[in-house]
Amino acid sequence: MVSHTVFDGPCVRPTVPQVASIRRCAPRHCLHLRASRLEGVEQAPPDPILGVSEAFKADTSDLKLNLGVGAYRTEELKPYVLNVVKKAERKMIDAGENKEYLPIDGLASFNKATVNLLLGFDHAAVKEGCVATVQSLSGTGSLRVGAQFIQKCIPGKTVYLSNPTWGNHRGIFSSAGVKWEYYRYFDPETVGLDFEGLMEDIKNAPDASIIVLHGCAHNPTGVDPTKEQWKQIADLCVDKNHLPFFDVAYQGFASGSLDEDAYAPRYFVDRGIEIMVAQSYSKNLGLYGERVGALNFILSSSSAAKKVLSQLKQIARAIYSNPPVHGARIVSEVVGNDDMFGEWKQEMEYMAGRIKGVRQELQDHLERINPDKDWSFITKQIGMFSFTGLTPQQVENMTNKHHIYMTKDGRISLAGLSSSKAEYLAKAIDDSVRNC
Ligand SMILES: Cc1ncc(COP(=O)(O)O)c(C=O)c1O
Repeated sequence: MVSHTVFDGPCVRPTVPQVASIRRCAPRHCLHLRASRLEGVEQAPPDPILGVSEAFKADTSDLKLNLGVGAYRTEELKPYVLNVVKKAERKMIDAGENKEYLPIDGLASFNKATVNLLLGFDHAAVKEGCVATVQSLSGTGSLRVGAQFIQKCIPGKTVYLSNPTWGNHRGIFSSAGVKWEYYRYFDPETVGLDFEGLMEDIKNAPDASIIVLHGCAHNPTGVDPTKEQWKQIADLCVDKNHLPFFDVAYQGFASGSLDEDAYAPRYFVDRGIEIMVAQSYSKNLGLYGERVGALNFILSSSSAAKKVLSQLKQIARAIYSNPPVHGARIVSEVVGNDDMFGEWKQEMEYMAGRIKGVRQELQDHLERINPDKDWSFITKQIGMFSFTGLTPQQVENMTNKHHIYMTKDGRISLAGLSSSKAEYLAKAIDDSVRNC
């Protein structure tokens, strides 16, 4: 093993008395004398989403605006910690919260709460033991455990992703060794759902494929199927024996209501369709850095659920052993206490409302500045994002000329926009559309 000593001398193992002085020495790694055996490692490209935040940080302009990452900001563009989260944390500290390891599958009260939020309280599937849940590392970690499960327990399946989709889906399934393909989703002509394309592609997928569906507030398009369309997708999944894998990262952010936004997975379960669901509390409880989420299987037998759970635990154990405790306690406190639960719903409505407000303002400014173009798609789209249709060249102009940071696919996070910056953004979009 190579040790990184800072010993100012020849490359020999230091004696024990030397170790104290080594720590005080200026770092002159004798390792520098040789070329690294890892010089041939290929430079990986920056992450398409988190790389945008890095570029934003390096920009010194006062005009800069970060609309890259999907994180809620206040009107002052500051990060927001929900009051109900602070309240739950105070309660946890007063109760003498400890930092012991959780079991591999996570905090039992969190797992109960998360299934209640997903399916509605006291669902029959839970009572019958047909649900397998593991608390995992937010939405990403939950998807990753799900991907590894597919690779291990139902190998040879192809996962179908919407085109476009959240930038990390491809990497998550690829890194677990799972093959993926796209199904059509977005129609740039109508700036809406390509429902016919979606149905055709899901129909043409081999029977018993895995179909990743965004539970609500589709990222990046902000375009969801209607209830009638969900019904037809469910019919097709039954006919084709597909396994839907719902990604629920924005429950509450589409409509402002937790129940309304769980419509699709609940409908599929009520139709008797087995589903997988990854959940995240990054956005709706603002627990981004706490990494709290869950992977659920809702199955038609308790014996299958038991076996699936055993596999999920084995997978999680080898990747991260057990999940973090703090954020899971927050969720279980908030959901388990009627007053706090009510407060959460109000705060979520407020956040969703603020985003709707800036959506409208952005559209109003654009309609005033450039009335020849139809901007109505901005308020037709829902959730945190707007898929602007800006080309990569126009996106470059937004960043290089106007210091507005966004992903290359033309997605902007409206959760990072304030009323006071809406006009500046509209002018930058108009300039980019006209001149690039
Ligand atoms: C569609 C979708 N799924 C999952 C996630 C996972 O987020 P996290 O790992 O922060 O919970 C995100 C985050 O942006 C997302 O947009």
